[in-house]
Amino acid sequence: MQHILVTGGAGFIGSHLVDRLLAQQDTCVTVIDNFDDFYNPSIKRANLAQHAANPGLEVIEADIRDTGKLEHVVSAARFDAVVHLAARAGIRPSLDQAPLYAEVNIQGTLKLLELARRFSLPRFILGSSSSVYGTHTPSPFREDAPLAPISPYAATKASAEMFAHVYSRLYDMQVVCLRFFTVYGARQRPDLAIHKFARLITAGRPIPIYGDGSSERDYTYIDDIIDGVMAALSYDSTRFEIINLGESRTVPLHYLIELLEDALGTNAVIERLPEQPGDMPRTHADITKAEQLLGYRPSTAIEAGIRKFIEWFERQPLGA
Ligand SMILES: NC(=O)c1ccc[n+]([C@@H]2O[C@H](COP(=O)([O-])OP(=O)(O)OC[C@H]3O[C@@H](n4cnc5c(N)ncnc54)[C@H](O)[C@@H]3O)[C@@H](O)[C@H]2O)c1
Repeated sequence: MQHILVTGGAGFIGSHLVDRLLAQQDTCVTVIDNFDDFYNPSIKRANLAQHAANPGLEVIEADIRDTGKLEHVVSAARFDAVVHLAARAGIRPSLDQAPLYAEVNIQGTLKLLELARRFSLPRFILGSSSSVYGTHTPSPFREDAPLAPISPYAATKASAEMFAHVYSRLYDMQVVCLRFFTVYGARQRPDLAIHKFARLITAGRPIPIYGDGSSERDYTYIDDIIDGVMAALSYDSTRFEIINLGESRTVPLHYLIELLEDALGTNAVIERLPEQPGDMPRTHADITKAEQLLGYRPSTAIEAGIRKFIEWFERQPLGA
């Protein structure tokens, strides 16, 4: 029986990882999540509700910054790995709350690394982000490109990676940093474009488009991301790796909107707004390393992924 600690396990990506881990009969999971109010905590409780009666899942409501509580959790079990997904996510809100983002994403990660060291946790997987690359990073983004974050959120993710690197070097810990490229699918965070646009289009309200609308994103379907995280959990040949998990195709915003309009059967009303500082104009993953090291092969193209997302979205109560 393996035992995995998932921080942020009630969130969008975390809850999908919990589903996948629990589907393996030989795995039990402990989730640490503080159910913060970045978005409605009842959504996060619902994300894990299907496992309420599963003895293989323990959910602990705790803040990763609370070392005392975390120490209690980590010392009471023998974890085979920690997948650290708890974070203040979202680029735009990070501009107004930089100190809070630094506290949770840098200090919180450091506290976890410290516990992982003290209690000799064999493996540490860190949920990082494509946002650590910069505006001028050559496309597609390779893991060895220089870091050039342009938002506080991105800076916290880059710092978390640095601390993870330091701990792996100093204390011989196995660490994999996974740089996720815009993840979407059922239960996507309500603040992210695809979910937000679907909600606004359905309500007949305008969708905000920032700048000239020429931005492009590498959207990655949640099942592909979870495939990559699962592969990282069983990858153990080197001490420290940084690996992109993207779809490796960049999708222009106008095409994304067309796909949403088709799937919803409604035209979007566009509201043009000034460019947002901190937003990346383009993201595009080079996934050669993920293919080589993890056997990662994303299989859901944006066209199919948007249809699946809308099937889920339309099953939600109004206002999802
Ligand atoms: N969704 C994406 O497109 C994307 C892209 C790149 C990176 N990421 C990273 O992946 C991870 C998961 O993102 P997500 O989209 O699932 O976000 P999410 O907000 O749905 O999940 C994060 C979870 O962490 C919890 N959390 C926040 N602060 C905490 C704290 N101090 N202590 C304990 N729990 C805390 C939240 O309650 C939430 O359940 C994050 O680290 C995020 O930065 C996400």
